[in-house]
Amino acid sequence: MNDHTLKRARTARFLDPGSATAGLHAQASQLIPGATSRLHYHFKPYPIYARSGKGCRLTDIDGDERIDCLNNMTALIHGHADAQVNAAIVDQVQRGVSFSEPAEPELALARLMSERVPSVRQVHFRSSGTEAVMMAVKLARAFTGRSRIAKFEGAYHGYYDYVQMSFSSTPANWGSAQAPRSVPSSGGLSSAVGDEVLVLPFNDRAGVERLLAQHGKGLAALLFEPLSNRAGMVLPEPGFLDFLHEITRQYGIVLIFDEVIAFRLGQAGAQGRYGGKPDLTAFGKIIGGGLPIGAVGGRADIMALLDPAGTGPRVISGGTYSGNPLSAAAGMATLKKLTPAMFARLDAMGERMRTGLNEIFRVAGQKAQASGDGSLFQIVPTDRPLANYRDVPQDAAAFDWLDRLHRGLLCNGVIISHRGLSCVSSPMGEAEVDEVLGAFERAVAGLRG
Ligand SMILES: Cc1ncc(COP(=O)(O)O)c(C=O)c1O
Repeated sequence: MNDHTLKRARTARFLDPGSATAGLHAQASQLIPGATSRLHYHFKPYPIYARSGKGCRLTDIDGDERIDCLNNMTALIHGHADAQVNAAIVDQVQRGVSFSEPAEPELALARLMSERVPSVRQVHFRSSGTEAVMMAVKLARAFTGRSRIAKFEGAYHGYYDYVQMSFSSTPANWGSAQAPRSVPSSGGLSSAVGDEVLVLPFNDRAGVERLLAQHGKGLAALLFEPLSNRAGMVLPEPGFLDFLHEITRQYGIVLIFDEVIAFRLGQAGAQGRYGGKPDLTAFGKIIGGGLPIGAVGGRADIMALLDPAGTGPRVISGGTYSGNPLSAAAGMATLKKLTPAMFARLDAMGERMRTGLNEIFRVAGQKAQASGDGSLFQIVPTDRPLANYRDVPQDAAAFDWLDRLHRGLLCNGVIISHRGLSCVSSPMGEAEVDEVLGAFERAVAGLRG
């Protein structure tokens, strides 16, 4: 699909050089580096600007409406401006948005999360998923008296220094598959960070065993993200999560699940779906109903290190907005709507989407697939079976294919991330899934042009 064809498409006004979007982007380019505060909406020629959203649809500043299959990077599981979530927010706004004092919504949300997730005995709130991961790592260090951590290659855990390693490594720098190199994925990291982080090959039991035999006794934490989108949303192979539990027991390592995205897989999150017994879990996104939030929850003996009255190597925390009632109220309203029946409906829509997309790619002869599970789907530019990050193409041709598909979708009324992350949301129904599939069909057809 060339630029001329794209501009004639249904929702392509943003591409017009005279569009409101182009104007805002030009202004933002002067004031905000790269015109963006978030890496994910930095793509060519520029992102659409949101004017408003309702349900599963988002209207851009030029007045074009699209089905939103990204929902603020998967945070809005009930879509935009959900009536119950909005009512909870408005109710809290009228009583005050934040206080120096604790308030009831924080407690209510902690109770609901600990009721739903058996591994979560206590909860500590933060303001982002990044902070939740950071706190989990600090707790693990304080608990074990060790400092190094391990993470899987390709997994993104936010932008705390110690997890910004090897989430975007490439064949040119990633080293051997059995012992991946620890590659900084951001500038500005202390040179010490590389030595502090052991990078593991996902779904490779023998590889993990070998690396932990060498380094396990010095590790405070092993971080694992179920359905890591940068690593192709590959499912853990049968027995892999039990193996992680056992091997972390063997070496006295704190096992941390990062469910910042994956908690949208069920009432007990990904651990309820796949098993796995983490010591600590990091949360974010849906538990704030669209407002800033993060949380770490888990074993009472580890969480106790956050108790200011406790003894031992206490972890000191603060945060002007930690546990704020507004995010907690929005999160409560969001989670309350997520009944088992609602999850079953989201799962069915997700399945229908993945199946439909794989058929579209097959019929069009495109070497691509839709991976994922539950309400999450990921477009991966290869038709080969996926086992881990190294099976997901990381070359310029793959990124170019994704960029063109993404642009074609924007012009055909659908939003996904430019790296393929996508989800369904509760305001969608079968008609909207079909609408998305129709847009994919047109966008994929355009890739040939
Ligand atoms: C798995 C995972 N962990 C952590 C984070 C960081 O969360 P936040 O962006 O709220 O800081 C993200 C963000 O996308 C994530 O996907």
